[in-house]
Amino acid sequence: MASSNTAAVDMRPDAAEAFAEKIGNIINSGTITVMLSIGHRTGLFDAMAGQPSRTSAEIAAPLGLSERYVREWLASMVTGGIVHYDPIMKTYFLPDAHSACLTRGAPLGNFAVYAQFIPMAGAVQDTIIDRFTSGEGTSYDDYPCFHSIMAEDSGQNVVDQMFNEILPLAGGIRDRLEAGIDVLDAGCGSGRALIAMAARYPNSRFTGYDLCADAIATARRSAAKASIANVSFTARDLTGFDEVGRYDFVTSFDAVHDQKDPQGLLTGIYRALRNGGVHLMQDIGGSAHLENNIDFPFAAFLYTLSCLHCMPISLGQDGAGLGTMWGWETAERMLEEAGFPEIVRHVLPHDPMNVWFVSRKG
Ligand SMILES: C[S@@+](CC[C@H](N)C(=O)[O-])C[C@H]1O[C@@H](n2cnc3c(N)ncnc32)[C@H](O)[C@@H]1O
Repeated sequence: MASSNTAAVDMRPDAAEAFAEKIGNIINSGTITVMLSIGHRTGLFDAMAGQPSRTSAEIAAPLGLSERYVREWLASMVTGGIVHYDPIMKTYFLPDAHSACLTRGAPLGNFAVYAQFIPMAGAVQDTIIDRFTSGEGTSYDDYPCFHSIMAEDSGQNVVDQMFNEILPLAGGIRDRLEAGIDVLDAGCGSGRALIAMAARYPNSRFTGYDLCADAIATARRSAAKASIANVSFTARDLTGFDEVGRYDFVTSFDAVHDQKDPQGLLTGIYRALRNGGVHLMQDIGGSAHLENNIDFPFAAFLYTLSCLHCMPISLGQDGAGLGTMWGWETAERMLEEAGFPEIVRHVLPHDPMNVWFVSRKG
């Protein structure tokens, strides 16, 4: 007797075969993500960019890497369509059109930075499988390198665009920053965005709060190294945040949805702003409704990271567990409930994955 699986295949053989091919392609391409991460972290992509075709030994030696490992990595890159191979000379070449999105400072942004999230998430697979049964969450300590990956992500996606694209969204804020105001970055992580603003606007005073002491330690070191004196960083849980009327400008960069209490934080931010104050919030721009996200850029990637990181991180704090794809509709409603009378939503051309809310108080 045929199994139910066999029966399904027999009923629609073309559809089943096409789907099996799709799954095979997903597995084959998916493995390359880990190798993109390795190419970034070892510096292999940077070292190959703009170089002529070279042997694996010539590529490995200047980086102090094992030729045998580099050759195997290169084979994955060649079969994955990322590196070109000359079988006569046994040399490897990274075309300019490919290095344009795989290297530090790349003109299209470095996609290999985002690739790092997949092996990071894979490292907690056993924990997450356990959580599928228990329903419990995770802690930041469960994730290797999360804050360093996030800092790189912030560096290219936020800091690089800060002064030309992001701050202009909050009309008038650059003049106020020049003149001197009090600024808070809620969930500042390793502090790159805040340090960039503090360096640019020496008359203003900048405060960064984040739950994770190791991220705050990195932020303090970076500020000290750059001799930036008008910024301070404190490790603290923003749950119950309530510093009434202390700030003129509050930013949160991708830092609300994985909080323990996102609504409480937004209400706290509203209360923390002085009259005329502005909140600038970056968060993931998907919809709250799954059916609207089928064609959203990187939707599967974002739901995957949500399941493996953002949602369990919040649940691990006994929190709301909104998930990465909480949706702009939810964000907008929560900003309204926080008390903001004026909320404007933007999407920046360089970053279709995120949404930017500019909310003003009074
Ligand atoms: C996705 S990261 C973004 C970090 C930073 N804004 C950036 O763009 O690189 C979210 C941040 O929220 C912080 N966070 C999460 N829950 C928190 C809480 N309850 N209190 C304070 N910070 C929290 C995390 O430590 C993390 O640094």
